[in-house]
Amino acid sequence: MKGKFITFEGIDGAGKSSHVEWLAEVLRQRGHVVHVTREPGGTPLGEKLRELLLSEPMHLETETLLMFAARREHLARLIEPALARGEWVVCDRFSDATYAYQGGGRGLDRAKFLALEHWVHDHLQPDMTLLFDLPLDVARERIVLANRVLDKFEQERADFHERVRQAYLERAHVSPGRFRVVDANRPMHDIRKQLEQIFSSICL
Ligand code: TMP
Repeated sequence: MKGKFITFEGIDGAGKSSHVEWLAEVLRQRGHVVHVTREPGGTPLGEKLRELLLSEPMHLETETLLMFAARREHLARLIEPALARGEWVVCDRFSDATYAYQGGGRGLDRAKFLALEHWVHDHLQPDMTLLFDLPLDVARERIVLANRVLDKFEQERADFHERVRQAYLERAHVSPGRFRVVDANRPMHDIRKQLEQIFSSICL
């Protein structure tokens, strides 16, 4: 039996990361072996690339290539073997983030990352993608309240993040079978209720 691959997406400050571990625990209680991971990152090399990607200024295409290099490593070392063993992978961001950030945010030509996507994971897409959606000003406020040093992407202007949000919503619109849009502008317990409903409706 093949395991399932669940991804979490959303603009910075959408609050998705606080639900990743919780969902993994819910799934474990249902008897699944679950791996929690993230992109960029998820492997020793991927985490090194993450450090560079989140801090170092670089050419847009270099950024995109490094995202996919980290992803190839992640797939080869963790995601593909786990799924082949029938285990589950819950991943905080995947290729939809490249479409949204490098495509929507930075304006990279779609054909470029389509080619990379075919190369790196032609045969594999997430079974389900949870898109945490909320207005930009609410997400910004959450980031400010967290009171920490902002990474390279968080430092981008509001119009960049608005394009990221719109690119995510467009992707959800064209793949309604894979995406579930979560209203992230809600209190924590309401969001968890939405997640529980989504997961009970697909009888895991
Ligand atoms: P995180 O803070 O949610 O873990 O994500 C790290 C940042 O990396 C976030 O601002 C989005 C960005 N990112 C991209 O620009 N492209 C990608 O392909 C991925 C996976 C993340």
